[in-house]
Amino acid sequence: MSELLAESPVRLAPMASFTNAPFRRVAVRCGSGFTTNEEIDAEALLAKNAWAGESARTDLDEDVVAMQLLGNSAETLVPAAMLLVEAGADIVDINMGCPVPKVVQRGKGAALMQDVSATARILSAIRHAIDVPLTVKIRGGWDERQPNAVEVARMAQDVGVDAITVHPRTRAQRFGGRAPWDVIADVVAAVEIPVTGNGDVTSLVEARQMMAATGCHSVMVGRAALGRPWLFDDGYEGLDARGRTAYEERVIIEHLNLIEACFPPRMALLQMKKHLAQYGAGRPDARTLRAELFAQPSVEALRRTFVRQWAKDSAPAREG
Ligand SMILES: Cc1cc2nc3c(=O)[nH]c(=O)nc-3n(C[C@H](O)[C@H](O)[C@H](O)COP(=O)(O)O)c2cc1C
Repeated sequence: MSELLAESPVRLAPMASFTNAPFRRVAVRCGSGFTTNEEIDAEALLAKNAWAGESARTDLDEDVVAMQLLGNSAETLVPAAMLLVEAGADIVDINMGCPVPKVVQRGKGAALMQDVSATARILSAIRHAIDVPLTVKIRGGWDERQPNAVEVARMAQDVGVDAITVHPRTRAQRFGGRAPWDVIADVVAAVEIPVTGNGDVTSLVEARQMMAATGCHSVMVGRAALGRPWLFDDGYEGLDARGRTAYEERVIIEHLNLIEACFPPRMALLQMKKHLAQYGAGRPDARTLRAELFAQPSVEALRRTFVRQWAKDSAPAREG
């Protein structure tokens, strides 16, 4: 596991409804290390829910892929983990950080950090059931009264978890304020298994700063990579405006083609809208563009709308 993390130490973080196979492949092509899919609810997977099934696809992953599960019991997480391994997961990751109310109310996501011994039993059962690496992604704790990332990390190590990712905000903090990187350093100091740091990193430079500041082995980048997967490429920064535009166009077109090839038409349309809105997010008329994109009835109309807008905004770079 350590070698794998060291190979490409900066990688795409899991993000629900974004980090499915097409975006993961695009990120890896740009330079991300191995990726983790969006969270898949173990119950939905076992009930053969359509999106959970699509989301669990690994056929576009050319290299290593981690599959992340959301759940609250060994009864669902163990068979779901076994299913994912059968489907091609190289690593199984357990989500212990999702703060969404409907998730934590059912004892899933960040709620797993509340009852450490119950969670130890769940992780131990999964550990015994699968023979690929098992990892967990945790938060700083439930709230400021229970900032127990270190305790949870030690427990995870004790039950045989192979590596830990820490997003150091507590569940109560959601995404507010700065991510307290010192919590990552505390976890690194407390365990021997590799630790991936995460939170507010927006470039490779900042990723290296996080590694230097906390001692973490690798870094995950989430929000900053939405609509900007080229941030994983050291070479992108060195390009001039025209080179960057050409690079971006190539990535976006590849991404759209992969989405179209990977999903049934209605899912493909929604995925394209979500990602194109992210690609357009930095543009001067991002809000109008987003509304226009979401109004398009078909993949063809969507592509035309985006290309027209992209060409307009990129004209100075093309000429320059
Ligand atoms: C839209 C969105 C969806 C997310 N979905 C997941 C998820 O499915 N699993 C998970 O472990 N974390 C999820 N996260 C959290 C991110 O992986 C990451 O921990 C968080 O965004 C902090 O990193 P960042 O500052 O680089 O964005 C999600 C975050 C966002 C913004």
